[in-house]
Amino acid sequence: MGQTLPKPGLRPFLPDDVPLLAAIFTASIEQLTGDDYSEAQQQAWMEAAEDEAFGKRLAADLTLIATLEGSPVGFASLRGADHIRMLYVHPAVSGQGIATLLVDALEKLAGGRGATSLSVDASDTAQGFFAKRGYTAQQRNSITINDEWLANTTMKKTLGAPQ
Ligand SMILES: CC(C)(COP(=O)(O)OP(=O)(O)OC[C@H]1O[C@@H](n2cnc3c(N)ncnc32)[C@H](O)[C@@H]1OP(=O)(O)O)[C@@H](O)C(=O)NCCC(=O)NCCS
Repeated sequence: MGQTLPKPGLRPFLPDDVPLLAAIFTASIEQLTGDDYSEAQQQAWMEAAEDEAFGKRLAADLTLIATLEGSPVGFASLRGADHIRMLYVHPAVSGQGIATLLVDALEKLAGGRGATSLSVDASDTAQGFFAKRGYTAQQRNSITINDEWLANTTMKKTLGAPQ
């Protein structure tokens, strides 16, 4: 007989969550993005969690936390009405629909804020996930994080449109 997986939950971000979210961010980059980014790029990206601005950004944006049996396992944030700023899932639970739960919720919240479309600067790792949800590539970007250049792709989805 198969084991039933615990059902994930969602809750809003609290300031005390910052250290745990920084740990999820770091583990996710370290273990999930190695096929798409060099070790130096991953290192520079992970170091963003050591900056005080990391927690400030989570608090300033609308940040949602996905939990499994009460413990945070992933998070996502919405900037303004129409831009997904962060989406990170712990590697131990990747492929279990956690990002889907988070982005489903952000798309509803964006619609509630009056957005007609939603954009994201998707990492090369996340591009396939967003493409599957109906987001289309708009432009390729090069950004610098801690003196390393990283590429990402601005993707956009019209809300309410069939996927
Ligand atoms: C991208 C990421 C958020 C996906 O999280 P996840 O919880 O594993 O995603 P889900 O389980 O909800 O996946 C939903 C679907 O997308 C697919 N998918 C997930 N990641 C994918 C990828 N990299 N490429 C193609 N498809 C992908 C899954 O196979 C699944 O398909 P299914 O419904 O047919 O089974 C996670 O891999 C991650 O944190 N990556 C590293 C950090 C990162 O790059 N963040 C994005 C910054 S913009």
